[in-house]
Amino acid sequence: MKTRITELFGIEHPIIQGGMHYVGFAELAAAVSNAGGLGTITGLTQRTPELLAKEIARCREMTSKPICVNLTFLPSVTPPDFPGYVRAIIEGGVKIVETAGNNPQKWLPALRENNIKVIHKCTSVRHALKAEAIGCDAVSVDGFECGGHPGEDDIPNMILLPRAAEELKIPFVASGGMADGRSLVASLALGADGMNMGTRFIATKEAPVHQRVKDAIVAASELDTRLVMRPLRNTERVLKNDAVTRLLEKERALGAALKFEDIAEEVAGVYPAIMQQGEMERGAWSCGMVAGLIRDVPTCKELIDRIMAQADELIRGRLARLV
Ligand SMILES: Cc1cc2nc3c(=O)[nH]c(=O)nc-3n(C[C@H](O)[C@H](O)[C@H](O)COP(=O)(O)O)c2cc1C
Repeated sequence: MKTRITELFGIEHPIIQGGMHYVGFAELAAAVSNAGGLGTITGLTQRTPELLAKEIARCREMTSKPICVNLTFLPSVTPPDFPGYVRAIIEGGVKIVETAGNNPQKWLPALRENNIKVIHKCTSVRHALKAEAIGCDAVSVDGFECGGHPGEDDIPNMILLPRAAEELKIPFVASGGMADGRSLVASLALGADGMNMGTRFIATKEAPVHQRVKDAIVAASELDTRLVMRPLRNTERVLKNDAVTRLLEKERALGAALKFEDIAEEVAGVYPAIMQQGEMERGAWSCGMVAGLIRDVPTCKELIDRIMAQADELIRGRLARLV
């Protein structure tokens, strides 16, 4: 399948693995890229630019296909060494960067001078248009269904994607709620040039996370996610657990007076314990509604091959027979 996204990134299939904190290590990125998609290393999961440089080198030993690095720009008390991370990406020879969070404009000149393509992840048409205006090569449009940060507009992909298609000139991928060949064909029908998946790629053999994380996704239904941190305008879709119940009770009790410190125990620094030690009640972790469509833990290649075969059958079979 050839789309503007496969052409732009030089990949075989229009399927991207989005950056995921404490999930997007070299093993997963290489497995996705080797399967013909685009695998992504999560920059900030590496605590320093030096560690990111090592992770990129480790990934390079596992694949010669294009790989991507995610840079998430979020406000923080002690901002990460972004110039150092950008240098590690450039010196590591990575040619694709997924940016997310704040406007990436400041970093575009350095990336573009080094022939690095930028795909910016956003949750609204206005932010997608801004990304296009500042010179991003593509955008990843994340609907309300998505695991992680869906923004504050709550527009599901059935509306958001065709709206993006109406307005954007640059290519875009559909993100949030994507799991299979049906998702890919629907994304293409709604105007996207491919799809980005997060939660689905966690439940794969190569995802270097604890087995209990994969089991929790397989066991979850589409009813099992919750939105947390809305009062802080930093909404995150997470899988429900005892920590999330506690967090939501605090949000209800404190109302507008809620501060980050009140919920720090449930959200700050919890990812290593959950993802690596499998302490599933340790805190809130991002997970999409798409968990309801995930029932197995295949290899990345099995997953991507299955998606492409199902998409092919849908387009040439079921849809072609309807017209
Ligand atoms: C566990 C987890 C961690 C994530 N961490 C990040 C992150 O650090 N930076 C980022 O830009 N997106 C992050 N995301 C969002 C994904 O890249 C992707 O946009 C999202 O998962 C798509 O929705 P889906 O889960 O329904 O496929 C994360 C998602 C999950 C599930």
